[in-house]
Formats: sequence, structure tokens, C-alpha cells
Amino acid sequence: MFISIEGPDGAGKTTQAKMLKDRLCACGLKVVLTREPGGTPVGEEIRKLLLDPRFAEIAVTCEALLYAAARAQLVSQLIRPSLQEGAFVICDRYVDSSIVYQGYAGGEDLETLRRINMWAVENLLPEVTLLLDVDAETGLRRLKESAGEGKASWQGDRVEQKNRHYHLLVREGFLHLASLERERYRIINAQESPAAVHEKIWAVIMEMLRRKQVPIPAGEE
Ligand SMILES: Nc1ncnc2c1ncn2[C@@H]1O[C@H](COP(=O)(O)OP(=O)(O)OP(=O)(O)O)[C@@H](O)[C@H]1O
Ligand SMILES: [Mg+2]
Repeated sequence: MFISIEGPDGAGKTTQAKMLKDRLCACGLKVVLTREPGGTPVGEEIRKLLLDPRFAEIAVTCEALLYAAARAQLVSQLIRPSLQEGAFVICDRYVDSSIVYQGYAGGEDLETLRRINMWAVENLLPEVTLLLDVDAETGLRRLKESAGEGKASWQGDRVEQKNRHYHLLVREGFLHLASLERERYRIINAQESPAAVHEKIWAVIMEMLRRKQVPIPAGEE
């Protein structure tokens, strides 16, 4: 099963991806957790380029292609092989982040971005995309607080420096994508505590396991 976790900056994607991985692992399932951009040696180098505040001049088109390049490597080197081995793959951001950040928020043509990315991933889309929805203020406040704790965050650098309007466009973009692909998307209200958000995610995943007739471990029904 291929699961992506999407949502605006500071929505809690990384937090929830780890909690979901731990719980699936505790059920004895094989889980691969990866993040975007990055997740492979080549992808991590591309990530450094993308997030370096010295490169404020990066054109949106260049940015879009770099994200797609890192993603292409991730799919071929890690995601596809892991799925073939029967693992659960949890991806912290995926194609939809590109459509939203470079498209809805960055102004690039949505259809072009979609085509480039679908080519990069050889049409591989997640079975379910969990959209962690929070308002821009909450997300940015969480990131600011976590920066105070000395935690690195990919939005805490070049991307986070963009203005508030941009963050509103990001949230609206994700919600619009979710409305277009109701089958794949589950919108999760992520304003609550990490534990409460996790329970909502777990309910979605349990429902999917049941539908796929994957044996559900005792105590989790
Ligand atoms: N539900 C929550 N309530 C309050 N704080 C939270 C919640 N979820 C996560 N946090 C905290 O908010 C900060 C950002 O969380 P996290 O890094 O998981 O978000 P993210 O969506 O991955 O952000 P980014 O878009 O920057 O990758 C962290 O310090 C985390 O501990
Ligand atoms: Mg994160």
C-alpha cells in the first residue's frame, strides 16, 4: 500500500508519518518511510540545492523540474522496489506538493506540472493521500515554535520566507486537489493534538486494510 501525506507547512506531516509508521510496524507490517524532496542519495543532494537560502533566484520552472527529478529517482530507487516487496510505503509529500507549491501558489501551469510529474513517477500515484488540513497561522506558528527548539524544517528556510498570501494559496490548492480526486484523498482536520490526529489517520488506514482484506492485528479492530 502506497500512502502519501500532504498538507501545508507545519501541518504535522512528518510527525504523523512517523506515528503511522511506528503503529504499522508494531502490527508486524513492513514499512518504508520516506520524505520529499530527498529519500535517495541523489535526491538528498537535490534537496540541499532547493532549500539553500543562497539560491533565492531559482526560477519556478527550475524548481519544478528539480522536485520532479528528485521524485523520479525516489520512485525508481525506493518506492517501486519497496512496493514490489510488499512493504507499506509512506511518503511525506509527493506529486501533489509540486502541483500546489509550483502551480496553485507559484503560478505555473497546472496541467504542465501534472504531465511532467506523472512522467517522472511513471504514473505511480498513492492509493490514499492524507491531506492534513490546518490554517496558515497554525502551521506557521508550529514551525516557528519548533525552530525555537532548534529543529530543522524544510519550510523553515527559503520556502517559509514567502509571504502569508502564498501560504493561503497553498492551503486552498490542496483543498481544491482533494475536491478533484475524492477517491484518493482523505481530508484530516489537523488542528487537534498529534494523538487525536493520529487516531483519525489510523481509522482511515484500518478501513482500507479491511477493504483489502489484509489481516488486522488483534487489538486494532
Ligand atoms: N497536532 C499538532 N499540534 C501541535 N503541534 C504539532 C502538531 N503536529 C505537529 N506539531 C509540531 O509542529 C511542528 C511541525 O510539525 P511537523 O514537522 O510534523 O510538520 P510538517 O507538516 O512536517 O512541516 P513541514 O511542512 O515544515 O515539513 C513540530 O514541532 C511538531 O512537533
Ligand atoms: Mg515535514
